[in-house]
Amino acid sequence: MNNKKIILLSLSLLILLAISANAEDRRVLQCRVLARDFMTELKGELKAALRGGRSVQAISVCRKVAPELAERYSLSPGVQVGRTSKHCRNPENRPDSWEKEGLAILEKRRQQGETLAGMEYWQEVEEEGKRSFRYLRAIPAGSLCLRCHGEKIGSKLKKTLQRIYPEDQAVGYRLGELRGAFTITLSP
Ligand code: HEC
Repeated sequence: MNNKKIILLSLSLLILLAISANAEDRRVLQCRVLARDFMTELKGELKAALRGGRSVQAISVCRKVAPELAERYSLSPGVQVGRTSKHCRNPENRPDSWEKEGLAILEKRRQQGETLAGMEYWQEVEEEGKRSFRYLRAIPAGSLCLRCHGEKIGSKLKKTLQRIYPEDQAVGYRLGELRGAFTITLSP
């Protein structure tokens, strides 16, 4: 191979690398925007519902609004948005094996001292012959959340939660712990 050919080959390799890096960057950006918008809308609805201490009514925000938002955000072709956690209230949100692994990685990073705000994890994966881009964004347990996910839950609220979610595992959280993650899958 002469020098010219070598230069051409390395140039095309560089261009290929740049293109693939950009594609990944684009997907990360897309996931960031989706997760941020989902979180802002949900928090807004939750805060409004909790105003005046109406916690029992606010259950419907998490119960109805969250899945509706997830569905709306998943309307674009190839986009799947949801929430998951190691300890779920609704069994439908339970993590699959990739999410389980990702949640464990986020938790490990938290224990090593990394701040949860903005913590994310992503990977290009191939599952059952299909390639996709998967993304998790950490959801910290804020003070607002402890009313329904904390160690001390009001008795009326507790009763209602137990009635609707007999398999509830999403209790006993402390401020700043990893409550779960927004989970996004982008398929080509
Ligand atoms: C008024 C009670 C209430 C409050 C306050 C609340 N949640 Fe929830 N949360 C729920 C309910 C009910 C569900 C189950 C939703 C469903 O059926 O999908 C849930 C589900 C979740 C899930 C999905 C995983 C799972 O456990 O099924 C996450 C993540 C979550 N909540 C995080 C939060 C965060 C973060 C906050 C604070 C910003 C918060 N929640 C505040 C009641 C509440």
